Order: sequence, then structure tokens, then C-alpha cells
Amino acid sequence: IKHLRSAADLDAATATLILDTAGEMAALAGREVKKLPTLRGRTVVNLFYEDSTRTRISFEAAAKRLSADVINFSAKGSSVSKGESLKDTALTLQAMGADAVVIRHSASGAPHRLASWVDGSVINAGDGTHEHPTQALLDAYTMRSRLGRLAGLKVAIVGDVLHSRVARSNVLLLTTLGASVTLVGPPTLIPNDVAAALSPATELTGSASLRGDRLIPGEMAGGFPPPANPAGVEKPTAISPAAIAVSYDLDSVLPDMDVVMMLRVQTERMQDSYFPSAREYSRRYGLDLARMRKLPEHAIVMHPGPMNRGMEIAPEVADSSRSTIVEQVANGVSARMAVLYLLLGGKA
Ligand code: CP
Repeated sequence: IKHLRSAADLDAATATLILDTAGEMAALAGREVKKLPTLRGRTVVNLFYEDSTRTRISFEAAAKRLSADVINFSAKGSSVSKGESLKDTALTLQAMGADAVVIRHSASGAPHRLASWVDGSVINAGDGTHEHPTQALLDAYTMRSRLGRLAGLKVAIVGDVLHSRVARSNVLLLTTLGASVTLVGPPTLIPNDVAAALSPATELTGSASLRGDRLIPGEMAGGFPPPANPAGVEKPTAISPAAIAVSYDLDSVLPDMDVVMMLRVQTERMQDSYFPSAREYSRRYGLDLARMRKLPEHAIVMHPGPMNRGMEIAPEVADSSRSTIVEQVANGVSARMAVLYLLLGGKA
């Protein structure tokens, strides 16, 4: 594959190749091999229109460990403040010889647009409420490292599913790799029609509730028009409804799970009607110690970060031995090294 815009870009064989390669990258790091010459002479641009800590730093670390030249672009302090469009910014980067552009943008679908403007590979580092495929890869890698497999795993994704690009990419990737997913949260934060909401074929049409709603008409202010043929932008992926369940009762789900992935409550994207109160939310859907003890002995607790400690996850749970939160961050570098290596090396 040339681009990684969606977890739906990955079939099982390609996803497994990325996870295996991430394992090799981690093993090299463990043997104190700090740098590989693989991408010497290649240029990776990190194009971040939205804030990020983990993703931006780990992409930079990944590219540098592969000896690529790295250009970090942040919308703050750039000519975006003067109204320069995403397209013109992309063409500027193109002129500087970018071999790969890693993009985070508040508009769902931005990576797809970008891929039609630049010659290099485009990697989605989070677009609106749509997708975050490298987060799903590092999450899958973490599950496989801790539990030894992905096929047959039972994974609960809990909380603000409606606004979560992490949830969407994880559902797509985990079901591709044979895990089953239960989405858990209040009814107002779970899409009514999960299968339709997760279908990449509908993601730019405005019909799916899990997709972002931030397509900006015109090209100014970093926005872009919707594509003329939305369904042609991505290949449709059939998500087996059998692989996705929905529950509104966290306590009843926990005893059967291998993995519980807590999501950040995205209050900044929330309308009042979605979210009664932090206290009520935490009481019903927060993972505290008492709830964590309902999990089987072997089960792990994940969170993509950043966390609202005390809301969706109690501090004692986040810092417990079952938590993989810090491990996920470390694995993010290996997973992103694998993605850059395979996309720029043409091996995926
Ligand atoms: N998980 C994640 O995407 O974190 P950042 O927003 O800090 O990159």
C-alpha cells in the first residue's frame, strides 16, 4: 500500500506484516540498536493542525530512528494563520520533496484529500472524529504482546465511542484480525447504527454519525471541499455485525473480556444532551478498582491517552500493573517505525 489513511486500508496480511515488523523494530531497540540507516535521504513531514503529544513525538522519533530527515510543521505559527489552504500548504511541502506526510487535522477526510495532492505517502495521524489508524496498530501490537494473540480476543471499547477516531480504527483493525469488539457506553455516546457508522464508504458523505462533521467548504483556513465521488475515495470494507456487539452496562460485560479499552470523554466535541454530568458518567462508566476486579485475572486495561483521570479511569487503575498505558506509548514508536519503513520501502 502507498497510503495509510484508514485502518480499512489494511487487510489481515498487511496488518500482520506491520505488527511483525514493529516487533522486529522493538527487538532491535532492545539490543541497543538506536538507529537504522533504512530511510537515509528520505524526508518525512509531520503536518499537525491539531494538538498532539504522543503521536507527534513518536512519529518524529520513529522517522529519526530510521535516519529520515524530519520536518515538523505545526499550524500554529505558520502561514495557516494568514488563511493558507491545506492544498497550498501541501503543494509547498511537495515542492520541498516530502516522501511522506503524516497529517493530523480536525477535519475528517483531510488525509484523503491530501493524498490526491501530493506524490508521497500520506499517513493519517488522526482526522476529526474519523480515524487514527496508527493508534489502532499500536493498540493491536500491545494486545498481541501481552496476550499472545489477536484472533478470538474479546475487547470492550468503553465510553465516548461517538466522537472517537480511536474506537473506529480499532474496530476496523481488530475485526480484520479476528478479535470481537463490544462497544460500551451511554446510549447517547454510541452510534445508532454501528455498522453503517463504521463503514468507510460512507465516511465523507455526512450520513454516518461516527464520522466527523467538520468538512469545511472551500479551501481557506485549512479546509477542503468534499470529494465529488465520496464512495470512490476509499474502498468499502464489510464489517461483520457479528464481530461487534453493543452494551450499555459495563458491569455485566467486564467478566467476559480479555481487554478493556477506556476512551477519553471528549467534552470539547459534546453537546449538553449527550452528557448528563461527569459524576454520573464516572459512576456508571468509569473504571475504578472495584470494576477492574470484575475482569478475568489475565485481562489488560488500555487507554490511548490523554486521560481524564478520575472520570473515565481512576488513577489507581491507570497506574496499576494491568494497565498498558505507558507500554502503548513505547509501542507507538515501534509501530510507527514499521509503518514508515513499509510504506516508504514499498514493502507493504
Ligand atoms: N493517543 C493520541 O493520539 O494522543 P495524542 O493526542 O497526544 O497524540
